[in-house]
Amino acid sequence: RADARGRRHVYLVGFMGAGKSTVGRLLARELGRRWVDMDTEIVREARRSIAAIFAAEGEEGFRRREAELLARLAEEETPLVVSTGGGVVLRPENRERLRASGIVVYLEVPFSNLWKRLSESGGHSDRPLFSLDDEASLRERFRTREALYREVADLVYANLDTPERAAADLARTLK
Ligand code: S3P
Repeated sequence: RADARGRRHVYLVGFMGAGKSTVGRLLARELGRRWVDMDTEIVREARRSIAAIFAAEGEEGFRRREAELLARLAEEETPLVVSTGGGVVLRPENRERLRASGIVVYLEVPFSNLWKRLSESGGHSDRPLFSLDDEASLRERFRTREALYREVADLVYANLDTPERAAADLARTLK
């Protein structure tokens, strides 16, 4: 795709449970690109789970790791598909980096679907923020986040079908 030289990556953003990791993995395969999952990378580098990072370093420690990783990825020469974590848009510096170094795709899923997915499918496993929130506070978190996802997005994709379908649709659009 003939993007300006600086914007070489594809970033998937969106709320917890929106499918960023699943779709990202498939999309990278379709585009023949390397895939990076930011949460997985943070866990690997820290040698502890996200929950353990939150417990030992606070959310602030996790956000610092996340911002540092994004800064490194943004500089990476190889075009990547990057599955971000749901909170990557919180820091203005991250929002600038995302926009400057890639095409940003917001995977849009209605809150009621997200809530259903998260509460049915082990959303608690390594998502400290989900574990702390009840439905009302998670919905509030979703509301404030949504504005930020829209702010950074070049493209909004309604992820309502299968991950395979999303990856195929996005590959066609982004090729
Ligand atoms: C977070 C989302 C998580 C993970 C961390 C914080 C958030 O990623 O980065 O638990 O603030 O929304 P997923 O969106 O992959 O669940």
